[in-house]
Amino acid sequence: MKPYLSCILVLSLFLTSCQIQEKSYMHSILNKTDPHSYANPRKAELKSLKLDLEANFKKNILFGSAILTLDCLNADTIKLDTDNLTIKRVYSESLKTDLKFEFGKKDKIIGTELLVFLSKKITGNFTIHIDYETSSEAKALQWLKPEQTNGKTKPFLFTQSQAILARSWIPIQDGPGIRFCYNAKIKVPKGMMALMSASNPKELSHDGIYEFEMKQPIPAYLMALAIGDISFKATGHRTGVYAEPKILESAAWEFGETEKMIAEAEKLYGPYKWERYDLLVLPPSFPFGGMENPRLTFLTPTVISGDRSLVALIAHELAHSWSGNLVTNATWNDFWLNEGFTVYFENRIMEAVYGKDYSDMLRKLSYSELYSEVQEFMIASPNETKLGINLDGRNPDDGVTSIAYDKGFHFLLLLENLVGRKKFDCFLKEYFEFFQFESITTKEFVKYLRSNLIDDDQWNTTNIEEWIFGVGLPSNCPTVSPQRFKAVNEVVNKFILDESHEFESKLWSTHEWLYFIDLLKKSEVTEMGLKELEKRFHFTHIENSEIFAAWATLVIPRDYQNIDFDDKVSEFLKRVGRRKFLTPIYRALINSGKKAFAQKIYSEARSGYHSVSQETLDDLLK
Ligand code: BES
Ligand code: ZN
Repeated sequence: MKPYLSCILVLSLFLTSCQIQEKSYMHSILNKTDPHSYANPRKAELKSLKLDLEANFKKNILFGSAILTLDCLNADTIKLDTDNLTIKRVYSESLKTDLKFEFGKKDKIIGTELLVFLSKKITGNFTIHIDYETSSEAKALQWLKPEQTNGKTKPFLFTQSQAILARSWIPIQDGPGIRFCYNAKIKVPKGMMALMSASNPKELSHDGIYEFEMKQPIPAYLMALAIGDISFKATGHRTGVYAEPKILESAAWEFGETEKMIAEAEKLYGPYKWERYDLLVLPPSFPFGGMENPRLTFLTPTVISGDRSLVALIAHELAHSWSGNLVTNATWNDFWLNEGFTVYFENRIMEAVYGKDYSDMLRKLSYSELYSEVQEFMIASPNETKLGINLDGRNPDDGVTSIAYDKGFHFLLLLENLVGRKKFDCFLKEYFEFFQFESITTKEFVKYLRSNLIDDDQWNTTNIEEWIFGVGLPSNCPTVSPQRFKAVNEVVNKFILDESHEFESKLWSTHEWLYFIDLLKKSEVTEMGLKELEKRFHFTHIENSEIFAAWATLVIPRDYQNIDFDDKVSEFLKRVGRRKFLTPIYRALINSGKKAFAQKIYSEARSGYHSVSQETLDDLLK
C-alpha cells in the first residue's frame, strides 16, 4: 500500500474512534479552573469582543471602549481580569441602564478582579459596554520614543500579551482556556499604521482609523496591537512582511522562504486555518525572539542576519498556528503543550525545507541547552524540571524555561521513535483536527495519547508518566550526533591542544559556530586562545546577534581583556531588549565579579526595555 493511502486509512479509523469520545472531552473542558484568572466561565464566558480605542502618544495611553458579549448561565455577576486600568463606566444597551461595578480581589501577579453586577439573573448571551483607559505603565504596552526606532522620526507602540498581560490593556477574561472572536476600530495619529492579530491593512489610512476582524476564536493572550511608521511588502500569495521602511527590503529577503515553510507545515499536519500569515519586524526592544500573534507574528529584528540562518524562529512561530493557536494550553501549567509541540513541529518544518543534516544541528543544540538547564535545576529546584509544572500562586513567566520547550520536544521525539514516524504524524494531524479551536490540559492530552497512540503494553513498558510528571531527564531521552558537527568536534579537540591550530570554517553556518562556542564553554580554552579566535573571526564585531551573545557569555567569565569588547557588550545591552540574550549576558557579568559594570549599564538601559525584560532583570540586578 502507498504510504499516504495507509495514512488515510489509519486516519479514518482514528476519526471514527475519536467521534465516540468527543462528548466526554467537551465536558471536561468546561470544568477547568485557571489559577491565573479571576473569570468564572461556568457562569459567564466571553464569546466576542469589540474594541474601539484611540492611541494617545503624548500621554502613552489607550482609551475608548470594550464591548464584551458573554454566554451566561444564571449569572448575576460578571468577573473580568484587569491590571492597572481605569474603568469609567459600565453599561448595558439592551437593559438601557448603567451597571454597577467594583474592583474585587487584588494580587501583585494576577492583577485586579473587576466585578460587574447585573440587575437580574441572566442566562444566554449578554453584552456589556466598558469605557476605560490604560495606565501609561501598562505592562503589555511598550511606548517607544522616535529615537528607539529605526527611522527615528515617529514613535512606536507594541503589545506583548502573553502570558497574562492582555488584562493591562483590555478588561477581559484573560485565561488561555477562554476563546472569543473580535472586531476592533483603532484610531492613531495620521501617517502611522496600526496592525493587529487579525485582518490587516496593507496601506496607510487617510484618517488614521483602522478596522480589524478576527473571525476565529482565540484566547486573550493572542490579542495584539502595533502602531508605527510601518510599510508592507508581499513575499508570497498569502505571506508578507511589515517593517519600518528602512529595513523592509532586507526583512522581506530574509524571510523570503516563509511560503515554502507553510506549504511543508500543511503537508505535515493539515491546512493552515488563519488565511494569511504575515510577519511584523519590531524595533530591537521587543523582549522575545518571536510571538505567534495569529495572522501576524511579531519578531525581533535580531533575526535578520543577512544570510537567512536564523529563520528556524519563523518555523517556530508558524508552527504555533497549529500548536498553541489552534490547540491551546488550557492553563499556564500546561505551557509545554504549546511550546514542546511547537519546537517539535518547528524541527520537522526545518527538516522538510532545509534537510535532515540541518535540522539535526538544531536538535543537538536543543539537547545541549536542555541538558545544562536540567543539571542546574536539579541542584536546588528539581520540581522546575517537570513538564506538568505547578505554577499556582507564581508568575506564569516562571514556566518559560527550556523544560517546556526542549524537554517537551524530546518527549515528542521519544514518542515518534516509539511508534514510528508515519504513525506519529497521523496521530498529530488528527490531534490538531480533533482539538482545533479548543484549549486542553496535560491530563486531557495524556488521556488522548493513551486512547489514540500508546497501547497499554507500551504504556507499561515505557516511562511516559515519568517524562510528563517526573523530575530530571529520563534515561531514554533520544540524542543525535549531527554529521555537520563532527568536524566541529574535531576542530575543538585540536584547538584545545594547540591554540595555533588552523582550521577550515568557510562553510560553517551560524549553528556550527554556536556549537563551536558551546564546546569551548565546556573546555579549558585560555585567554590566548580566545584572543587568537578574535583575531581570526572578529566575534566582538560580528553582526549576527546569536553568535555575539554566545561569544559574550563565553569570554565574560574567562576574564578576557579587550577594551573594544566592553564597549560592544554595553552597546548591545543598551540597544537590544530580547530577554534571551540579556539574561545570560547580565548573569555572566554578575558571576564574574563585574556586577558594578552590569548595574551601570542596566541603570541606563532599563527604561528602554519592555516590562517583561525589566521584571526578570530587576530580580537579577537590584
Ligand atoms: N510564545 C513564545 C514567547 C512567549 C512565551 C512569550 C511565554 C511570553 C510568555 C514564542 O513562541 C517563543 O517561544 N519565542 C522564542 C522563540 C523560540 C524559537 C524558542 C523566543 O522568543 O526566543
Ligand atoms: Zn513558542
